[in-house]
Amino acid sequence: SEPLRLGIAGLGTVGIGVVKIVQAHAEMLARRAGRPIAITAVSARDRSRNRDADLSGYAWESDPVALARRDDVDVFVEVMGGDNGPAKASTEAAIAAGKDVVTANKALLALHGQALAEAAEAAGRVIRFEAAVAGGIPVVKALTEGLAGNEIRRVMGVMNGTCNYILTRMESSGLPYEQVFEEARQLGYLEADPNLDVGGIDAGHKLSLLAAIAFGTRVAFDAVELEGIGRVSIDDIRRAADMGYRIKLLGVAQMTGRGLEQSMSPCLVPADSPLGQLQGGTNMVVLEGDSVGQIVLRGAGAGQGPTASAVMADVIDIARGCRVSTFGQPAATLAEAIPAKAAAP
Ligand code: HSE
Repeated sequence: SEPLRLGIAGLGTVGIGVVKIVQAHAEMLARRAGRPIAITAVSARDRSRNRDADLSGYAWESDPVALARRDDVDVFVEVMGGDNGPAKASTEAAIAAGKDVVTANKALLALHGQALAEAAEAAGRVIRFEAAVAGGIPVVKALTEGLAGNEIRRVMGVMNGTCNYILTRMESSGLPYEQVFEEARQLGYLEADPNLDVGGIDAGHKLSLLAAIAFGTRVAFDAVELEGIGRVSIDDIRRAADMGYRIKLLGVAQMTGRGLEQSMSPCLVPADSPLGQLQGGTNMVVLEGDSVGQIVLRGAGAGQGPTASAVMADVIDIARGCRVSTFGQPAATLAEAIPAKAAAP
């Protein structure tokens, strides 16, 4: 049968991860997808950069918009990042050109996901974003498919590995925030704009996407009560530990009688709970459904293999002909997200 042809925009960690999976597992992927999965073209800013993969069989575009419009591309895989500029323009171009889209771009989706999904669905296309939330953890699929028969009560989680690394390292080393932050920078954990991580913005983007799926509401990143980890002191961490708690950058989304509550902020969690036990650069998502009860998912929220794993899950779904809307229901049917009024002090 006809191959599903991918155009990959972005050849950083994630893009190369996708190339590696497609090259290493061609037969397995074809068996599972029911048709071969082929990369036909790629794009990145710098062609001359040395990359850890053989790209010689693929057409090269320097402009992702041109990639998105190519006739030999069925699925536009956007793994460049950035909430504006080329990522947005090329995703829009792909939809306009009748392509399905798979993206790892949480910032783009948190800010423009509603419009992009509506445009895709109006054109009979899908836009999928498993890789945008908690990296390798298949939490979007858990909500849209595995738990589709549940009314979701609550979504919680640690969704930024860098912050979790900093907080656990502060506790284990006794070093102050500034020093551990510097360590994280040297290890290459921090985003180009570190405030996306430590300001809680990246995690807030992810939470707002999960809340939209869980509660059938429009993505409302603006309504997330955000507080980063920059003010967590080593004294706070010690005092919490003395009481049997740990401080985690925790996201919580729930529908209350007052409206949708979404917060991403440093929280005390019992040290012996699954969230309290979460170490290093890992993610954990806790889902509560009315029938299933509580589900805990844990795994790598970033990195080459895990993020590419999630991209491939979406690619395979599309190859199989699955047209389920990425929010679990058509984007145009999502309700207004009425934010809960802050509780009286
Ligand atoms: N910087 C993010 C994290 C990874 O540390 O979890 C991508 O969202």
